[in-house]
Amino acid sequence: MKRRLAVVAALVAALTAAACGSNSDNSSTTSAGAGPTSAAATSAAATSAAATSDAGTSSAAGSDAGSADASATDTAASSGGAGGELPPINEATLDGAVVGFAQVGSESGWRSANTDDIKATAEKYKVDLQFTSAEGEQAKQIASIKTFITQGVDVIAFSPVVETGWDAVLQEAKAANIPVILTDRAVDSDPSLYKTFIGSDFIKEGEKAGNWAKTEFADADEVNYVVLEGTTGSAPANDRAEGWDNILGSETKFKKLASQTGKFTRDDGKKVMEGFLAKYPNIDLLYAHNDDMGLGAIEAIEAAGKVPGKDIKIVSVDAVKAGMEALAAGKINYIVECSPLLGEQLFQAVGGVLDGKEIPARVITIEGEFNQEQAKEALPTRKY
Ligand code: AHR
Repeated sequence: MKRRLAVVAALVAALTAAACGSNSDNSSTTSAGAGPTSAAATSAAATSAAATSDAGTSSAAGSDAGSADASATDTAASSGGAGGELPPINEATLDGAVVGFAQVGSESGWRSANTDDIKATAEKYKVDLQFTSAEGEQAKQIASIKTFITQGVDVIAFSPVVETGWDAVLQEAKAANIPVILTDRAVDSDPSLYKTFIGSDFIKEGEKAGNWAKTEFADADEVNYVVLEGTTGSAPANDRAEGWDNILGSETKFKKLASQTGKFTRDDGKKVMEGFLAKYPNIDLLYAHNDDMGLGAIEAIEAAGKVPGKDIKIVSVDAVKAGMEALAAGKINYIVECSPLLGEQLFQAVGGVLDGKEIPARVITIEGEFNQEQAKEALPTRKY
């Protein structure tokens, strides 16, 4: 398979370099220089870990739209650990490489955009993409990964439905000598079982949402809020809850009336919000772990005769087009971005692995935040 040839070529190159006394340290590899707020970031460039934390603070609530937007629509990445940056795309390596990708499902607008981006990027680089969708079921995702192992694909990539329960299948892939790359969501397995994890910092997303709520309700004596959680056991649901609690857990005036999963879908968001509204007449704030659930909740709020964005304020995560439109219309009050455009980084990592290069263990997507004005500005050029 392509992978074995590439690794042999890389070994030969490394031996030659060593013989010539040159330094083959991967930290010298660079992508297009992209600061977190730079327009150059549009090319999915990799930046330093320091740049990532800068981006986080520079796009805090109330920051100017320009800086939020620059990172918002892009997928610039940062290496969060040792090992330097992702190598640039190697088209020759990717051409014909067989990559098995096991997707979560199609629960949200975010997921559709993520699927489209991965498929389009694979096509652009002539990757032979074997794509499966698990429809939200871990068992189906494990079955897909086992099939990829049997087929002997060059690389397996997947976005895990939930965080736990992956050890056995990851060990199988390792025993078969097939490298694994995680995109979007983390697992709790030993990091030696996969090459890298490319995706957002979900805890930071929850903290951004919490910080907005804290500022928005600075003058209130009491804030009664409800939460629509993502898929139970998934990394974004776990971490967005943790991030929110990091900011608001000790703020006694913030009272959590109820918190329930809406499975990241619009339908479940609507149903669960209907239940909340029937039980609690005094909801001031909704924290939705994604836009789709927020959009479902808007329907429930309007059906209950209340005004979303005014009677009940809403903060959500993702910044997909439909969410941004609701924000621009004043029905959602604030959105924390989670970028689904992970295709470029995924195939940078695939190429690096196939070329036998060291790649960073963690690649964090740089993301923005949006208030109503920023959403209006961003919408005309929004990619998803
Ligand atoms: O893992 C990313 C999350 O999954 C998105 O925020 C949500 O919309 C999706 O379903």
